[in-house]
Amino acid sequence: MGDQSGPVLVTGGAGFSGSYIVRRLLDDGYEAVIYDLGDFRPEARFVIGDAAGRIPLERGGIETWPRLFEVVQRYRPRAIVHTASVMDIGHLNRNPMIALTVNTGGAVNLMEAARLLDVGRVILFSSIAVHGQKLYEPMDADHPTIMARVGPLGAYGAAKVAAEAFAYAYHQSFGLDTRVIRPSALYGFGMSWFAPNYVKNVVEPALLGQPVRLASGGQVPRSYIHVADLAALVAALLAGPDDADRVFYGATDGPLRTGGDVGRIVQELVPGADIEIADAMTETDRAELPFRATLSIDQARAQLGYAPRYTNLEDGIAEYIERFRAYLAAGGTPAAAPAGLNAPGSG
Ligand SMILES: NC(=O)c1ccc[n+]([C@@H]2O[C@H](COP(=O)([O-])OP(=O)(O)OC[C@H]3O[C@@H](n4cnc5c(N)ncnc54)[C@H](O)[C@@H]3O)[C@@H](O)[C@H]2O)c1
Repeated sequence: MGDQSGPVLVTGGAGFSGSYIVRRLLDDGYEAVIYDLGDFRPEARFVIGDAAGRIPLERGGIETWPRLFEVVQRYRPRAIVHTASVMDIGHLNRNPMIALTVNTGGAVNLMEAARLLDVGRVILFSSIAVHGQKLYEPMDADHPTIMARVGPLGAYGAAKVAAEAFAYAYHQSFGLDTRVIRPSALYGFGMSWFAPNYVKNVVEPALLGQPVRLASGGQVPRSYIHVADLAALVAALLAGPDDADRVFYGATDGPLRTGGDVGRIVQELVPGADIEIADAMTETDRAELPFRATLSIDQARAQLGYAPRYTNLEDGIAEYIERFRAYLAAGGTPAAAPAGLNAPGSG
């Protein structure tokens, strides 16, 4: 294993889950370095706090090998947490080479840099879209992904399952300590409008006093996970034992909840909110239904001591609301929704 005094490098650290991971790492006493194509989103800056001003944010694409290698060589991280990814699944389905070069190629670039520069542990963010269909419930990390007649969902899922396969290859060939987290429906303050579930589309307009009218999603069931719990899972996996499993779900166990549940919870928590979510399903919703399932986090509990805090959606959404209010009170500007946005799916 490499130098254990270096920082943890977080790709995508200027984005949603990356910013919570950076915050959590700092709280746990690690140094952090961010590698991201973009600058901090205002919400990410708020989540990280004053430290955002002093953490190195190295701009670059995960697909750009010389830049990525240069950064890993400069900081010699003890570990890498890889969250950066193109997430627009429609775009990736129309342009599968982007999924291959950026999402799979970027992950391989990171593992290559990690093995050449002796990085201790690499945690890759995958997705539940590695599954096309559930065979049993709760699904666990032994559940098949590529089967005789069903495979991962679209180019996004294909790129994720390919990156997972390379994680095994790097472990087998070089002993690189690669681990995988498959997040499910991730939510919380700072999520992007392109996040694959409806929570932002309900919480933020409702708090701003705007009517919420969603044309679909009321019946779509999801396994939600609050972003702070995902960051806690990353922390547990970083500190976890060498003989722990290689694949974990970023999920909260318990029953699936629907978009309609999200609407009802927000309605209750935000007095006067005007929310209507239709029961129709989009094409993507229907394509994803076969793999919507409860997910097991038993191995994370047993092997890593992971215990999610927001085990019910009510508490997690209440925290989102509280933090969004704090952001507004501190002068933060809510990001406007892109025109014609509908929830894109796959999470
Ligand atoms: N949000 C979800 O519900 C969900 C569900 C399943 C899996 N995931 C996975 O979790 C990870 C993080 O998701 P998120 O919601 O935090 O995403 P996000 O969009 O909020 O953040 C991603 C960050 O990556 C950066 N980035 C994008 N392309 C890049 C590139 N080519 N090189 C360098 N940086 C790049 C972006 O600038 C952004 O800061 C992704 O890998 C995603 O596939 C998310």
